[in-house]
Amino acid sequence: METFIFNHPLLSDKLTRLRDRRTGPHEFRQLVEQVTVLMLYEAARHLPRTLRRVETPLSPATCQVLAGDAPVLVPVLRAGLAMLAPLQAQLPESPVGHLGLERDHGTLQPRVYLSKLPEKLAGRPTWLLDPMLATGGSAGAALSAVKASGADNLSLLSIIAAPEGISRLRREHPDVRLFVGAVDEKLNDCGYIVPGLGDAGDRLYGTS
Ligand code: PRP
Ligand code: URA
Repeated sequence: METFIFNHPLLSDKLTRLRDRRTGPHEFRQLVEQVTVLMLYEAARHLPRTLRRVETPLSPATCQVLAGDAPVLVPVLRAGLAMLAPLQAQLPESPVGHLGLERDHGTLQPRVYLSKLPEKLAGRPTWLLDPMLATGGSAGAALSAVKASGADNLSLLSIIAAPEGISRLRREHPDVRLFVGAVDEKLNDCGYIVPGLGDAGDRLYGTS
């Protein structure tokens, strides 16, 4: 599994503010959006390009533009929704699929409660968005769901990951590209990432 782990002062600074328990929902959402834009910079490096001829005020020039279909964006509800708007701002042509998954607090098994995906995913870059990769159960189920709909060019953007989740995805979905803002120490007994940032959905939407 191709894995890109960000090591960048600006992203680290924002992650620290996300982790801080005193950061409230409004600032938390803003930080998730800002981190997502920084992650987009690397994720988009793999998009195909082609050449276009333009006239600048000074001369003709042969310049690069994005080629092919815009990536399909698939936020994993709830928390992944917060990563959608900043990507749509940069990739306005991208179709959006929605996957609703909820992790059972006891078994830690994900339950799919919504799946609304665009047609014709085969051959098209498809980016799954979920800020937290803990046991990897949810991401694994989400990746299986989009593969079942034909997706075969997959990336996952996660802001914080546990080593356990990365290992699981390496075993179950070695074909996927993974972009993570930070890899933390471990999971605790309840399946939370340590040090992590707590429950991303609750912190985004003020439900804890
Ligand atoms: C969180 C998070 C991931 C999942 C990660 O969602 O957004 O989807 O947990 O945990 P895992 O890797 O162990 O599966 P949660 O199930 O809490 O739902 P929510 O976003 O609606 O709060
Ligand atoms: N989901 C979260 O939101 N946070 C974790 O640490 C683990 C799963």
